Amino acid sequence: MSDSLNSPAAPPAPGDPARHTRAKGEPRFPDGPKADPAGSHFERRIRSFQPRRSRVTAGQADALQRLWPKWGLDIDGQRVIDLAELFGNDRPVVLEIGFGMGEATARMAAGDPDTNILAVDVHTPGQGNLLGLAARGGLTNVRVGNGDAIILLREMLRPDSLDGLRVYFPDPWPKKRHHKRRLIQPEFLTLAATRLRPGALLHCATDWEPYAEQMLDVLTAHPDFENTQPDGGFAPRPEFRPLTRFEGQGLDKGHVVNDLLFRRVPHRQDG
Ligand SMILES: C[S@@+](CC[C@H](N)C(=O)[O-])C[C@H]1O[C@@H](n2cnc3c(N)ncnc32)[C@H](O)[C@@H]1O
Repeated sequence: MSDSLNSPAAPPAPGDPARHTRAKGEPRFPDGPKADPAGSHFERRIRSFQPRRSRVTAGQADALQRLWPKWGLDIDGQRVIDLAELFGNDRPVVLEIGFGMGEATARMAAGDPDTNILAVDVHTPGQGNLLGLAARGGLTNVRVGNGDAIILLREMLRPDSLDGLRVYFPDPWPKKRHHKRRLIQPEFLTLAATRLRPGALLHCATDWEPYAEQMLDVLTAHPDFENTQPDGGFAPRPEFRPLTRFEGQGLDKGHVVNDLLFRRVPHRQDG
């Protein structure tokens, strides 16, 4: 893989739109991701993410401005998307939910150019970062979704349209009153199963052991998924998954990381 995936982007020059100071009410990135693409249409849902206000660097802003029109997708929940049109080819598509800063995503895309990756997060600096990494790495198989992946799955993707789903280090929501916000729950799995082709791989990883146990329990009990591990337990980290940024922080704290590799089973014949 090219080292350019790790090299910083050049900061925008004076006069560049990325240096522009916004007037009140002016969108942050006129050609970039929308602040809240689904608006209030789906407002009463429980969110699995928390809004974060973090600084967008000049390099990330520049990538958002330049590359969003080409490679970005606002998750507005208003239309069904044609994945072959989005990627410009009909290669298999894997959805990654919550890519953070996108370093692992870019590495996986570089390592498997024949697979398209639709990477979704709500985190604007990460979106800019991943777009920049993709451009500098010459990656043409990455598209960046902005918004809630649940709305994408429910409103915008066709049945059986995905060849894989990756959920790496989802927010652990450790407090009991927040457990309802955890992404990996039976209802989420039922929705995800409708969008995954039979045989598609669902790959999760977490460094939060109680969440890992919950994932194993709900996945094992779910009729649409089967464990790829003969002993019905956690999987060793597959070589194709690099360490992620969040994982590194967990390992520094002495956390144990667990991977889960489940397969979408063939459709049930109802009735
Ligand atoms: C703890 S971070 C992990 C990021 C990255 N996978 C890593 O390992 O470094 C979880 C990420 O998931 C995103 N996220 C959580 N729920 C989401 C959802 N429903 N749709 C899109 N992104 C979501 C959060 O914004 C956050 O960036």
